[in-house]
Amino acid sequence: MSLRIDILTLFPELFGPFLGTSIPKRAAQKGLVDYHLTNIRDFATDAHRSVDDKPFGGGPGMVMICSTVIEAVEAVQKQDDRPARRILLTPQGRVLDQSTADALATADRLMLIAGHYEGFDQRIIEALDPLELSIGDYVLSGGELAAMVVIDAVVRLLPGALGAEDGAADESFAGGLLEHPQYTRPRDYRGMSVPPVLLSGDHAEIQKWKQRQRMERTQARRPDLWRKYLDEKNNG
Ligand code: 6GU
Repeated sequence: MSLRIDILTLFPELFGPFLGTSIPKRAAQKGLVDYHLTNIRDFATDAHRSVDDKPFGGGPGMVMICSTVIEAVEAVQKQDDRPARRILLTPQGRVLDQSTADALATADRLMLIAGHYEGFDQRIIEALDPLELSIGDYVLSGGELAAMVVIDAVVRLLPGALGAEDGAADESFAGGLLEHPQYTRPRDYRGMSVPPVLLSGDHAEIQKWKQRQRMERTQARRPDLWRKYLDEKNNG
């Protein structure tokens, strides 16, 4: 069974070019995933089709109305028998990492809920009990870009999504290390040359060089990942 991804958003038009390009498109063409877009505004109930309102207690910005979002989620859930793993994109969520993407890629149905404006009425979270995900410690105007990031990180992990050459196994974060430096032709450009070991044909030496580079880079650039790597090597 392929993965079904439901996307609930106020701006479905943002997703068309993304889902219609590169790996997300190819994965759908191969039947590994199918995407279903829903406009949350279709579930607004008042004459103005409002989806947000001023926060009780005052404060800046607008808040997503609970009935609209909850009823949209319920209606979309009914479009298919499989219970969806619900994911709410919010800067209050847990920060997405590779192990979360790995776990989501094993689901058979995901429902991504992207809000806009200042935030969600807390009763949306109470009623839906979603996994709340953020994509990093900075503020976006809405959850749509975050939803695309989650989709991209997940879909490329589906078996068969990537070509034979570019498997997901030995890249950055697989194994907890950053990627080693990469080179392609020409061998020399403006006096900058490719490290000779990569041209040596000595497969064992090349593997050793790559591993050393990955470790040195991770140590220098991402001490947080390096500590995790060492911990997992020693204990995990
Ligand atoms: Cl998921 N949403 C918004 N609005 N801003 C973010 C984010 C999500 N993740 C990082 N910044």
